Amino acid sequence: MSLSEGLILGIETSCDETAAAVVARGIHVRSSVVASQERVHAAFGGVVPEIASRKHTEALTGVVEAALREADVGWSDLSGIGVTNGPGLIGSLLVGVSAAKAYHAATGLPLVGINHLHAHVAANFAHICQDPLTCDALPAICLVVSGGHSDIVFLRRPGDYEVLAATVDDAAGEAFDKAARVLGLGYPGGPAISKAAEAGDPAAYALPRPRVGDTLDFSFSGLKTALIRQLQQIQGLPLSEQPGEPTGQMQADLAASFQSAVVETLVRNTMQAVAAAGVAHLAIAGGVAANRLLRERLAEECAAAGITFHRPPPDLCTDNAVMIAIAAARRLDSGEPDNLNLDVYSAMPRECG
Ligand code: KG4
Ligand code: ZN
Repeated sequence: MSLSEGLILGIETSCDETAAAVVARGIHVRSSVVASQERVHAAFGGVVPEIASRKHTEALTGVVEAALREADVGWSDLSGIGVTNGPGLIGSLLVGVSAAKAYHAATGLPLVGINHLHAHVAANFAHICQDPLTCDALPAICLVVSGGHSDIVFLRRPGDYEVLAATVDDAAGEAFDKAARVLGLGYPGGPAISKAAEAGDPAAYALPRPRVGDTLDFSFSGLKTALIRQLQQIQGLPLSEQPGEPTGQMQADLAASFQSAVVETLVRNTMQAVAAAGVAHLAIAGGVAANRLLRERLAEECAAAGITFHRPPPDLCTDNAVMIAIAAARRLDSGEPDNLNLDVYSAMPRECG
């Protein structure tokens, strides 16, 4: 039996979610446990690395045990362990990798380090996705939009992809988080803007849909500036003065207009990449892929263009360990496992692996 036919434990601690999951036969979700530190960091308006590491240390053992319990399996039932070893916060990554090494040493189970971004893409293979991605559907284009990345990638085979476009400044998630701060909507910004936007008019304010020359790259930092300018204008302030946080309908309209600008920019470039690559399949990944408007708009565009649109459920778009276990199943089958020398990386090459 290949390892991917067995049960794999995934562990994820790259940012502010402590997660563990058990996945069977590489795609079947048996359990998924996520302990979010969101509330702890919200008070600071963003993730505080030292606090994140400490919280991971406190939560990890309980989260792993809960994932095994929820899957109704013991250590002897498992075939391997996958753990995120980058990119991410070094202190946070170290907690997951150290624990995974200890489990590996204690049980003899093979261990693989997983690239967090590859894992986000791999979530599309989970059997609970709408139209799960399969190897037969490849090559495909995948839009990877998270707190740190906005990439359009060409996916040849699982784990083998080429970055066709990326952001030249802020990532889409970062843009949501920064705009939410300007709008007084708190952290994390994506879900907060999305919720506020439900009561707003996306056409209330004309914000730009940025382009980077004739490339498919993204640039979102100017959009945040445009949002601040818009607020200054509404409040009759000069450029040098910090605008106050909007409230009520104005806040909702600004949130809706901002969300629409980010989503339409992502949709435009992604559909252009799909057309240029001549593929028939589109997938999405990363926390921003949980955004309802983005999912609806891509679904519409794909339906009109005859493209199959694969998307993980929202809780497999935001950080989780199911995606780590899925990526690990393939790694365990296709290459040498890692050992106690496995290291952590704050940044990692994005292509292949
Ligand atoms: O993939 P992820 O959970 O962590 C990273 O790997 O970065 O992505 C987190 C990002 C945050 O910037 C968050 O604001 C954004 O994803 N996000 C959303 C939504 N849910 C999370 N952005 C827009 N709409 C959402 N519903
Ligand atoms: Zn992530």
